[in-house]
Amino acid sequence: MSVSRVLCVVGAGTMGGQIAHQAALHGCDVRLVSRKAERLETAMRDGAGLLRRRVEKGKLAEADLDAALARITPFTDPGPALTGARVVIETVVEDRDAKREVLERICQHVEDDVMIGTNSSTLPSSLLAAYVTRPERFLNMHFFNPPLMMPLVEVVKGPHTAEATVNAALDFAESIGKTPVLVRRETYGFIVNRILFIAMQEAFRLVEEGFVSIEDCDIAVRNGLGWPMGVFELADLVGLDVVESILAEGLAQTGEARWAPPAILHEHVARGELGRKTGQGFIGER
Ligand code: CAA
Repeated sequence: MSVSRVLCVVGAGTMGGQIAHQAALHGCDVRLVSRKAERLETAMRDGAGLLRRRVEKGKLAEADLDAALARITPFTDPGPALTGARVVIETVVEDRDAKREVLERICQHVEDDVMIGTNSSTLPSSLLAAYVTRPERFLNMHFFNPPLMMPLVEVVKGPHTAEATVNAALDFAESIGKTPVLVRRETYGFIVNRILFIAMQEAFRLVEEGFVSIEDCDIAVRNGLGWPMGVFELADLVGLDVVESILAEGLAQTGEARWAPPAILHEHVARGELGRKTGQGFIGER
């Protein structure tokens, strides 16, 4: 499977918007799709703002910023955005019906040999493969938040995925400046979330059971493990609703009690305290 540099990103939230900017920085011609014009405006403004900070810090030339931004075209209509794309990355909400609608739409507009990656962290591509024509060209390409900063991409081979697609995904991730790793068989959480979310569960339990405060737990993780953020701070960055749904989906898919979402998390979500995006999560406004 050949991979060229015309990328269509479908879904313009934090992940899609920043993946689009990352690829544009590395020379791709990028089409960014959302049905909502405001979402596209926000994604373009936020991405440009983050890259402008790099210019201010002397890490990026002004001309390279301008060139990258000029390579991204926003679309509210997926048809023209997908026509002629050679790589598609789907980054819409973690909902099977929403993914189904988008994947079916993608397949109506792209050629049969176009690689399609889903950024889903909770739905392995085998659960979505029925919505894709030629599922051998389909797999998970899992980016990390914030995607402009985090180097890793987990490339996850589904039982239906061709070896050529795996290689194309690894090459593509590398070509946009990322560090890809291959997960040879699907497993819930892939690599990072399997490690991270079980660590989070232990942190939630330590606080729930009164052994330690949220603040001290985060200090311990930052200073004892050398993580750039504490567990609670990171949960706030990811979004507590997202953390809860990753755990709940893990429980549903594996039946393993270790994924069961804890009460401390649910209490915040029920109050609408979802982390950074609402200004309040485990840690308040700072
Ligand atoms: N979005 C994009 N860029 C951001 C950002 C954000 N939310 N927050 C900070 N940055 C950028 C800044 O713009 C800055 O970039 P430049 O140097 O290019 O200007 C850089 O990050 C450093 O910023 P700061 O000095 O303000 O902050 P920092 O040194 O604390 O770094 C961080 C911020 C990169 C987010 C760092 O704290 C970090 O690596 N945290 C861990 C993040 C992590 O573990 N992510 C994985 C989450 S799990 C996941 O994504 C999987 C899933 O399925 C849920």
